[in-house]
Amino acid sequence: MKRIAVLTSGGDCSGMNAAVRAVVRAGLAMQVDVIGIYKGYQGLIDRLYENMTTKSVSNVLQRGGTFLQSARCLEMKTEAGLRLATDNLKGMGVEGLIVIGGDGSLNGGYAIHQQGVPVIGIPASIDNDIPFTDMSLGVDTALNNIVAAVDNLKDTASSHDRAFVVETMGRGCGYLAVVATIASGAEFSLIPEEPYDLEQICEDLRRRYREGRSNSIILVAEGAGKAQDIADQIKDKIGFETRVIVLGHYQRGGSPTVFDRLLAARFGQAAVENLLKGNHGKMVGLQSADIKLTDLEKVVNAESRPIDPMLPQLANRLSV
Ligand code: F6P
Repeated sequence: MKRIAVLTSGGDCSGMNAAVRAVVRAGLAMQVDVIGIYKGYQGLIDRLYENMTTKSVSNVLQRGGTFLQSARCLEMKTEAGLRLATDNLKGMGVEGLIVIGGDGSLNGGYAIHQQGVPVIGIPASIDNDIPFTDMSLGVDTALNNIVAAVDNLKDTASSHDRAFVVETMGRGCGYLAVVATIASGAEFSLIPEEPYDLEQICEDLRRRYREGRSNSIILVAEGAGKAQDIADQIKDKIGFETRVIVLGHYQRGGSPTVFDRLLAARFGQAAVENLLKGNHGKMVGLQSADIKLTDLEKVVNAESRPIDPMLPQLANRLSV
């Protein structure tokens, strides 16, 4: 292969820049040209691209978001959009593509692969719902953001004997909420994977106040409900003053953690090496500390990555 391309697609996350940098620099070191495509699949359809040099990726490693920018591209889901994207790649002389993104982006990558363009996917999404990888890029940074927010909220909650209901992202996956509960010492996590009993939560809140605990933090994964609704129900049931914080996109930004930077470097290099070796139509993933390949076909047809049931159990046990 003489020329490959890289794009970031779907919801951004921290570590995408570090992954693009790794792809560009590993590619150039292996004597291939690397093209950066702007604005994800939309940019592929609109031919927004540039030749990358080592300098193009200077000073981006530590920045959150993606300097290539991203988009959620509906046109890619149409036959005409897919054909245009593939034709444009071929027209640019691109012989292989690296897609950095979540499940929708990997689906797009698989579709392009089926059109005969070699593709490798790099899993990147704060939700940690992509199967065949223990961690996706951006998850660790998002968790650190959530934990830092909860640490701050505990300070002010303790000053006023308050309960805070904090909503985290994650779509249908409660991973962020449950791991952040363990890591921050929050008291409750409401996640879509497990039923929750609001009566019991209210009972526990009453007990905590009787015991003189100065604060209680309830993390609600967005897939489990709206923080405001939960807070309203708690107020109706026990009359406690609660405050609501929806962390929203705050979780997705910020400088990537060392874990995400290292993962990005390992994913980026493995993606280029395997593309050049002819191991394509695959996703790189972290499996028990090693970088392993899984067929994109298997990835896009699998259920979302399930939460290890040990995690909610641990969260419950330690939050008393
Ligand atoms: O998939 C990543 C994610 O941040 C989800 O957790 C969230 O539900 C969604 O994207 C938000 O999407 P958007 O950035 O389009 O508002």
